[in-house]
Amino acid sequence: MHPPHFSLRTKLILSFLVVIVIGGLISLFFGQRLVKNVLISQAQAKVNHDLASAWMVFNEKLNDIKDIVSLTASRESLHEAIRNNRTDILLRYLNRVRNEYGLDILTLTDSRGRVIIRTRNPEVEGDDQSGDEIVSWALQPNVIAYPQIVPKSELLKEGKDLAERAYMEFIPTPKAAPRPEDKETSGLMLKAAASVIDEKDDLLGVLYGGILLNRNYEIVDRVKEIVFKEEKYKGVETGTATIFQGDLRISTNVTDAQGQRAIGTRISEEVKKAVLDEAESWNDRAFVVKDWYITAYEPIKNIKNEIIGILYVGTLEKPYIDIANRVMLTFTILASLCVIFLLIMLYFSTTKIIKPLQRMVVATQEIAKGDLGHKVEIQSADEVGYLAASFNQMTEKLKAANEELIEWGRTLEKKVQERTRELTEMQASLVQSEKLASLGKLAAGIAHEINNPLGGILIYSHLLLEESKANSNLAETLKKIIKETSRCKNIVKGLLEFARPKEPEMVLTDLNEVVNKALAIFERQALFQNITIEKDFSDLPRIVADGPQLQQVFANIIINAAEAMNGNGLLAIKTLLDARTDTLRIEFRDTGHGIKEEDLPRLFEPFFTTKEVGKGTGLGLAISYGIVQKHNGSIEVKSEVGRGSTFTVVLPLIKEAPNE
Ligand SMILES: Nc1ncnc2c1ncn2[C@@H]1O[C@H](COP(=O)(O)OP(=O)(O)OP(=O)(O)O)[C@@H](O)[C@H]1O
Ligand SMILES: [Mg+2]
Repeated sequence: MHPPHFSLRTKLILSFLVVIVIGGLISLFFGQRLVKNVLISQAQAKVNHDLASAWMVFNEKLNDIKDIVSLTASRESLHEAIRNNRTDILLRYLNRVRNEYGLDILTLTDSRGRVIIRTRNPEVEGDDQSGDEIVSWALQPNVIAYPQIVPKSELLKEGKDLAERAYMEFIPTPKAAPRPEDKETSGLMLKAAASVIDEKDDLLGVLYGGILLNRNYEIVDRVKEIVFKEEKYKGVETGTATIFQGDLRISTNVTDAQGQRAIGTRISEEVKKAVLDEAESWNDRAFVVKDWYITAYEPIKNIKNEIIGILYVGTLEKPYIDIANRVMLTFTILASLCVIFLLIMLYFSTTKIIKPLQRMVVATQEIAKGDLGHKVEIQSADEVGYLAASFNQMTEKLKAANEELIEWGRTLEKKVQERTRELTEMQASLVQSEKLASLGKLAAGIAHEINNPLGGILIYSHLLLEESKANSNLAETLKKIIKETSRCKNIVKGLLEFARPKEPEMVLTDLNEVVNKALAIFERQALFQNITIEKDFSDLPRIVADGPQLQQVFANIIINAAEAMNGNGLLAIKTLLDARTDTLRIEFRDTGHGIKEEDLPRLFEPFFTTKEVGKGTGLGLAISYGIVQKHNGSIEVKSEVGRGSTFTVVLPLIKEAPNE
């Protein structure tokens, strides 16, 4: 599978997006924690402070009871009634005090701790209260106030209704620690005791009073009123306060699912462990009845410094979570808007980056198509600009190299053509000399055999002619025989010349002079009378050559020209030095009938002639060819039928005789 193809822009935007999204998620995560922590820790600080306020209300109540009890205990009239054993007066008076100050109990003992008057339950009296921790302190004598667990038996003594008020069956509560019991029969009381001492400092007894906190909501509601001022969130009161007896809610304004005060429910296990078992305070979130709260718990201790209950305040956590979430939502929306804005910006900025690159791509495509002159027009002073500049530089160099290559190709082609022509020529001349050589061998054999008999015929014919009468028929016939035989002899001589040419005698020779000598032979002949001879001789250096043999060559060519022109026309002879090839050129141009195309390759063959029988032997050019070849030269022929021919003898410029 190939990875998907993305454009540069998509890649850029995607990578930015990845960074933004990862960064966003990280900051969102930490941001949320931070917001929550800040909000919750602030709320926690407030709740901690609220617990202090709750303690004030709690202790105030305890002090109130203490004040009432100690004030009443110091009353002169009370002392008087005790001394006079006026139980009726005592009962009336103390009952009034109890009702006036809203105490649940107010009981008087004698100086040994035996109950004299029990205002709430006058029938029960005479029992010994000296074993009670608080009463025993007051017997010291003293004034003292403490929260205290009051067992059912004592509650029954103080009043049956109090025992009923304290009785509480446990309501199953989520997260509460399991307990073997299923109900509570004792009560938690704020209790104060004061010794009753007369003016003579005699201890008359102890007066103790108290308020049973079970199902008494005065303190918790007052805390809520002072501290939370009835704050509500979505119809639910957020601030709560509770007094626990052990782990049991005995006084609270936390409500259950039905909206009733959740008394009878119990504290969550983790808080119980911390506060009741470890005697620590708890300042954290906690599960309260059915919701999470930001809470503060502290133990309530009795006179022996034993933990007997807990005072709690807490505020619903949900509003803070909701605020945190709202803040985070706002933040997320803002961040998303920023991302969108950023993406738009990115789109435009990548366009700025990509545009020049696209132009580069177009340029490379143009160049690939072969337009090497194409230039990228980017002048930005950054990497893309540098790239464009070096790109342009590269194409320029490429263009130059390309042109050089084309030029080189052209010269190469020319050179190949030249060489091919040279090779063809060379091959042609090779074939020619091969052909001539074999013909020469054949001819030499024949000539040798014929030469001697011809000699015999000639001698005998001459002898017969001398003996015959002049002008007789025989004499005429003999003359004819002699003439034809001489012709045969000439042919044979030529053949031999061709077949076994003489080795040239190479000496320094002036070629202009040789041409002149050849011309001189014919100038006065009848054939040349109507031929204009035009000479154009250059100053030629003398070369090493066989003058007489070359003269024979030139003579052959001159006669051929004259015959081709039928003794009427122009023969232009030109000599020149070709410095380029280091050769001498002797050119013979006539205005004769020219040579047919198909005859050109055969010109130098022995016996090739177009002349009528008896006129030409066809050996002239064959012999000439042999001579020129011995000089390492060549004969070039150009001809046009009806207009004339040009024969050029080309000889190498050899200025010194070869060392032999
Ligand atoms: N200048 C020329 N113009 C036209 N044809 C020519 C010319 N030179 C040579 N030829 C042709 O080349 C043939 C061969 O020439 P070559 O000199 O070898 O023999 P020839 O002239 O025919 O006979 P020979 O020279 O032996 O008398 C000629 O018959 C003629 O057809
Ligand atoms: Mg000839």
